Amino acid sequence: MKTERWIRPAVAVLFLSASVLVSQIKQESRTPSVNMLTVRTDLGKSTISKHIYGHFSEHLGHCIYGGYWVGEDSPIPNTRGIRKDVVKALKELNIPNLRWPGGCFADEYHWKDGIGPKSNRPSMINTHWGGVTENNHFGTHEFMDLCEQLECEPYITANVGSGTVYEMAQWVEYITSDAISPMTELRKQNGREKPWKVKFWGIGNENWGCGGNMTPDYYADVMRQFSTFCRNFGDNRLTKIACGPNSENYNWMDVLMKEPVNRRMMQALSLHYYTVCHDWRKKGSATQFDESEWFLTMKKTRKMEEMIQKHSAIMDKYDPEKRIGLMVDEWGNWHDVEPGTNPGFLYQQNTLRDALVAAVNLDIFNNHCDRVRMANIAQTINVLQAMILTKDKDIVLTPSYYVFRMYKVHHDATLLPTELLSEWYVSGNDTVAAVGCSASRDAQGIIHLSMTNVNSKKAVDVLCTFQGLTALQDVSGEALSAEKINDCNDFAKAETVHPKTFQDFKKKGNTLTVRLPAKSVAVLAVK
Ligand code: AHR
Repeated sequence: MKTERWIRPAVAVLFLSASVLVSQIKQESRTPSVNMLTVRTDLGKSTISKHIYGHFSEHLGHCIYGGYWVGEDSPIPNTRGIRKDVVKALKELNIPNLRWPGGCFADEYHWKDGIGPKSNRPSMINTHWGGVTENNHFGTHEFMDLCEQLECEPYITANVGSGTVYEMAQWVEYITSDAISPMTELRKQNGREKPWKVKFWGIGNENWGCGGNMTPDYYADVMRQFSTFCRNFGDNRLTKIACGPNSENYNWMDVLMKEPVNRRMMQALSLHYYTVCHDWRKKGSATQFDESEWFLTMKKTRKMEEMIQKHSAIMDKYDPEKRIGLMVDEWGNWHDVEPGTNPGFLYQQNTLRDALVAAVNLDIFNNHCDRVRMANIAQTINVLQAMILTKDKDIVLTPSYYVFRMYKVHHDATLLPTELLSEWYVSGNDTVAAVGCSASRDAQGIIHLSMTNVNSKKAVDVLCTFQGLTALQDVSGEALSAEKINDCNDFAKAETVHPKTFQDFKKKGNTLTVRLPAKSVAVLAVK
């Protein structure tokens, strides 16, 4: 059958202009002997917002408590209760923004419980995440202190599901207003004279699910109401982020986008998509997986590209000027929790597979930066696809952490469109493109090319042409791989997965032949 022939294993795929799949090429006539990549250094108009490299930290398991917050009296070195080692490690990533306090927790959180003297703060039950008691010792002032220590922008998600418009409006006022008012007086009494700047505000979280199980029409009305009463105080301009769809819910996107009033009331909307190897009931182990599960994970994570394309097409229909941003403010691998840990704490180990998933997604976001203005991996510490794991005083930097460190060269750089012809990575009767990539030019004129080879068994040669350059002066790079697909970094053992200097490439004129090892990610700097 014709269609079958076109999608058979080993058929090459042609991605044109910023990785958009435009055609599939027949194996018989045009399968490349090498993988071919053209970097259009002569083009480039969109900026890869640094906010694509954002993070998400919820009151969940040991993300906040034990992760960031140990309290002022802890023997673990801290600044006003916040771990020094964690701040140091995250600053290395130049993390641009931090989303807080949830997640599902956000729609149960009442911010006034988390201000004032700690001994007076009421506790609550964290019903979503393990039913544990939340003592509210980490609240607004502690979060703002954390962001100041990290030198990142705060992104606060307000309670729409079980909160009130009044509550959110007062939170915005408490944090950002310089006027004389009961809220600003309260802030001053609690030790903060000057207002903070907080641009990013989420109007609820997953209101199609844990945030109230709303229909899109109902949520759109509620969003408009909440948005109306959230004010710009002084020069603090709000970026109001509406709750967007869950993965492939294109109807939710359409409903939110089609009404001009909805569009006027938001500057962005979110998209949540998690990579789950099997299914939500039995997701699969973070560390005990085989080759076929590695493949499946890569296949499922590549779905992000299709979703962004389809959601963007709907957004383009109503907002061709691309005023409204798409914020992928929850993404990453979601595995089964580690055996013996609290199922409500979502604690999972992090292997080379997670590193590749991070890199594949970051390349996708870069390539769609004309619409994707922010993304937040879930979640920074001890929860889901974390950057850092902590155990008492010890910390571990995960393979995903290193991908974020390697990719920081793309922050606020100009996207250079790429055209990629990749071989298939074949598993049984199924296929996925082996190679992924994105490229950018930074403020100093240096070109950075990130590339992944998701084939776990085979190195691939990629012939890269830098169209617009005559000769490549200087090329350097680093790559991350490991001996085994499930290698990870763990407590009380030497680190096994981290980037190393990469030199497996040959320059000739304006071309570079790169040999990407099996199951690897590489970032090259080209001058
Ligand atoms: O990141 C864990 C949870 O996943 C978040 O709380 C929720 O928004 C999503 O369903």
